Amino acid sequence: MHLLSTGCLCAILFTALLRQVSSLDTVIGLYGETLEIPCNKEATNAEITKWKYDKGDGDAGDLLVRRKNQNVIVIAGDEYKSRVNLTSNSSLLLSAAKLSDQGKFTCIFVTEDIDEYHVNVVIYKTPVGLEILEKAVELEIGKQTKLGKCIAEDSNPAVNITWLKNNKPLLADRQGINIQDTVQVDPVTGLSTTTSVLMYSAQKEDTDAEFSCSTEHSLGQKFTSSSESFTITYSTENIMLQVIAPEPLVEGDNVILKCEADGNPAPTSFNFHLKGETTVTVENDNTYTITNVSRGTSGEYKCSLIDNPTMKASKDITVNYLDINLSPSGSVEKKTGEALAINLKVDASGEYKVYWTKDNVKLDKQPSLTKLNYSDAGFYECEVTMGALSEKASFELIVQGAPVIKRLLKQRSNDGRHEVLNCEAEGFPKPAISWSVNGTSSEEGAFVNGKITHKITVVPTANLTVYCTVSNDYGSDSKDINVSSLFEEVRMDKRDQSEDGDQTKMVVGVIVGLLVAALVIGLSYWVYMRKSKQGSWKTGEKESGSSEEEKKLEEKVEENSQKAEV
Ligand SMILES: *[C@@H]1O[C@H](CO)[C@@H](O)[C@H](O)[C@H]1NC(C)=O
Ligand SMILES: *[C@@H]1O[C@H](CO)[C@@H](O)[C@H](O)[C@H]1NC(C)=O
Ligand SMILES: *[C@@H]1O[C@H](CO)[C@@H](O)[C@H](O)[C@H]1NC(C)=O
Ligand SMILES: *[C@@H]1O[C@H](CO)[C@@H](O)[C@H](O)[C@H]1NC(C)=O
Ligand SMILES: *[C@@H]1O[C@H](CO)[C@@H](O)[C@H](O)[C@H]1NC(C)=O
Ligand SMILES: *[C@@H]1O[C@H](CO)[C@@H](O)[C@H](O)[C@H]1NC(C)=O
Ligand SMILES: *[C@@H]1O[C@H](CO)[C@@H](O)[C@H](O)[C@H]1NC(C)=O
Ligand SMILES: *[C@@H]1O[C@H](CO)[C@@H](O)[C@H](O)[C@H]1NC(C)=O
Repeated sequence: MHLLSTGCLCAILFTALLRQVSSLDTVIGLYGETLEIPCNKEATNAEITKWKYDKGDGDAGDLLVRRKNQNVIVIAGDEYKSRVNLTSNSSLLLSAAKLSDQGKFTCIFVTEDIDEYHVNVVIYKTPVGLEILEKAVELEIGKQTKLGKCIAEDSNPAVNITWLKNNKPLLADRQGINIQDTVQVDPVTGLSTTTSVLMYSAQKEDTDAEFSCSTEHSLGQKFTSSSESFTITYSTENIMLQVIAPEPLVEGDNVILKCEADGNPAPTSFNFHLKGETTVTVENDNTYTITNVSRGTSGEYKCSLIDNPTMKASKDITVNYLDINLSPSGSVEKKTGEALAINLKVDASGEYKVYWTKDNVKLDKQPSLTKLNYSDAGFYECEVTMGALSEKASFELIVQGAPVIKRLLKQRSNDGRHEVLNCEAEGFPKPAISWSVNGTSSEEGAFVNGKITHKITVVPTANLTVYCTVSNDYGSDSKDINVSSLFEEVRMDKRDQSEDGDQTKMVVGVIVGLLVAALVIGLSYWVYMRKSKQGSWKTGEKESGSSEEEKKLEEKVEENSQKAEV
């Protein structure tokens, strides 16, 4: 019995000891709420159930006790007095759990033996929420800036805060991303507040990025702050100067200089540097207009940022110009034999070409007029072109001088009844042309480039030398031509062939057909010749044999001759 009881006691002690060791469970309670701390199942039918707690310094404090089928007697001090109770199955109910409640609770129950059951209590609290505070107004690219402060307030245990960009974790890399975490413990509640400050060096692609912070509590609950996006600012990286000008740009045009720079916010005011001479500051505009440009406007133009003069762009402006000066100009009068110096001065901004025309006919080079003659007279024009630009200048050359007869020709008409004399002369001003005989008709050609022709129709009755005389203010010229009598030839044609050859033969053909008429005409001429003055020329037209008609004819001939006179 003794042995048995001893053995039994040993067994109980052993099991009690065993239970004590094996039953150190951990119960997690939520801060502020009621926590049920279970005792061993075997305690359900215990005679006595008692709960104690570890005061922390090794001492134990009593909480409550219950005898079987009796009411709970709370024996705890002030701290627990109002917060503890016991369930029917001996679990300790602890309301308004606090962090200070954490620690070892012990359930002592007496069945046949006395057992102790230890429970480790842990009180957790999730943070109040996650919030980003002290947000940056804007983020400047490349400049590490405090993006914000994320706060997870009042938690236990302290939480770790993770920063997210577009829901992907940001890891501190000591360059662009720097995260500083601090944990503060409330001296009263013992709760931890975790603060995480994100120092962030933004990049261009962060413009629409969503930043947030999150945490996962030990209990497995996830918290994420609302997401924030930031204005990403960056200073100007590129600056460009645009020149808005007509093509080609010529004097009198307007030119707009337009400066464009990136950056956020983009710069709105600029300095324009005009050929390194002047600097113009333009506020709230990015253009500067140069009106009425001249050749002096050509040069280098720049624009730069007001606050960062090293950010600048430049462009060259070239104003095209083409000035020509032709000497002589207008109308020039020169005498034959003189020289005319032609001087074309071109002032151009680039390479140019010169084209010459005389009376709208292309010349292959600039004319060289060293010894003027009448054929040099005319309208000279030069055109100078440079790209799309072109200028023209011209002068009219009048070559003056005493007239010269170039040719004096005779030509017998087809019917052989009259001869046409042609006097070709050059001279300026227009020469007067006179003949030594009166023709039946005369015709004067146009006076072009100092050239003129004058024709008269004559019916020679005798071999004669005819003079053509031309004259103007500068002098005169005269030439003669021998004309043989048509009527001699008619007669002689019958006997022998004249040196006139083919033409005479043709005339003979006509004459033979009119043989009878010719005889009559010859007779009437005989009569007429005797009456008329010696050496004068009369027409043979419409002659008849009657003496009355002769008189009429004479009058008519006189009339015709007058008309024909030059
Ligand atoms: C005590 O009873 C409650 C229900 O009233 C139960 O949830 C709990 O697990 C029981 N405790 C033990 C140790 O049996
Ligand atoms: C303890 O619980 C019992 C029921 O289990 C209840 O009647 C009693 O009022 C409670 N006491 C306290 C102080 O809450
Ligand atoms: C917080 O981070 C530290 C270090 O990274 C880690 O040791 C700890 O377990 C983390 N705590 C939680 C609650 O995640
Ligand atoms: C343009 O400038 C020229 C001189 O450079 C001047 O003679 C002319 O009057 C100006 N024209 C206008 C419209 O201002
Ligand atoms: C006039 O001059 C041109 C060239 O200078 C020459 O070809 C022409 O023969 C000249 N004419 C006369 C009539 O001298
Ligand atoms: C030509 O006619 C005019 C007027 O009729 C006259 O005066 C002149 O003498 C005539 N000339 C000759 C050469 O017959
Ligand atoms: C006219 O000249 C021709 C030669 O040209 C000559 O044969 C003829 O006899 C001359 N006539 C007169 C009337 O002199
Ligand atoms: C015209 O004839 C005369 C002689 O009758 C002669 O001397 C003269 O040279 C001739 N003139 C011409 C241009 O042929």
